[in-house]
Amino acid sequence: MAQRVLTGIKPTGMPHIGNLLGMYRPALAMQDEAEGYFFVASYHALTTMRDPALLREQTLDVAANWLALGLDPARSVIWAQHDVPEVTELSWILACITSKGMMDKAHAFKDAVGKGREINIGLYTYPILMAADILAFDSHVVPVGKDQKQHVEMARDMAQRFNHLFGETLVVPAPKIREDVATVPGLDGQKMSKSYNNTIEIFLPPKKLRKKIMGIVTDSKGVDEAKDPDTCNVFGLYKLFATADQQADLAARYRAGGLGYGHAKQALFEVIDSQLEAPRERYNHLKANPDEVRTILADGAARARVTARDTLDRVRSAAGL
Ligand code: TRP
Repeated sequence: MAQRVLTGIKPTGMPHIGNLLGMYRPALAMQDEAEGYFFVASYHALTTMRDPALLREQTLDVAANWLALGLDPARSVIWAQHDVPEVTELSWILACITSKGMMDKAHAFKDAVGKGREINIGLYTYPILMAADILAFDSHVVPVGKDQKQHVEMARDMAQRFNHLFGETLVVPAPKIREDVATVPGLDGQKMSKSYNNTIEIFLPPKKLRKKIMGIVTDSKGVDEAKDPDTCNVFGLYKLFATADQQADLAARYRAGGLGYGHAKQALFEVIDSQLEAPRERYNHLKANPDEVRTILADGAARARVTARDTLDRVRSAAGL
């Protein structure tokens, strides 16, 4: 059986280049070696979202992001979570073999309690639905950020527990944690994150992209002064997009003096813009033609359901249903 790689993204807001480098690119690169299963986690979003029009729009938007950035629907499968009801069916069965104590330990839930947020049962059992996402498709590898590692480990525990109780039925998945990916600096030099309000969105029109880049915080050295690329936020981002030769060249110009931060920012803009131009065009096309996205999602859901139904048949029969 080919290795299957699966990951989901919640439909919440515009993706930024931290997401691009940390999430989309590494996950999409795996399409070449494995069977890619990528979905929009609409049910997980429903644990917090209360605006139906926005949820609908953002669900399509995440799908457009995947497609624009290189998801190939001929090789990979993409769907919206709520179009595969087998997942919620499996979620119930997993709930029946999962201890309350395990859910009490989940970070997402504990954070929400810490922040005094409303706790609904969907949020509390979030890791069970996520385990169902993973296990329904016999996923081998689940690429996620560090914050989701615990959830994938819980999915492993649930698969092992089910197999222990009812015999070998579920594939035990392995998390693939992206620890190797360098932290992407934001406009102010802190880690790029929506919660710090320091992001550069992937699909900005070129003018806005340039304006954001020109707003990156630097020190106040004058044009003539020699500068240290290794402590500069502009260079920190440049490194993540430029070739080794381009990096060495710009670093030398930093150290020699005579290079203003405006020039460095222009170089950064050019290298990012050249890589985002084609995805941006695809994204704009898909935004203008949402029915294309809907058709791809419907086709993906139909294919995903075939896989999930097969797993559910095994699971039901193993458990005596
Ligand atoms: N919980 C993940 C997040 O917030 C999204 C997600 C839902 C997911 N189901 C998944 C990721 C299954 C990987 C596998 O980022």
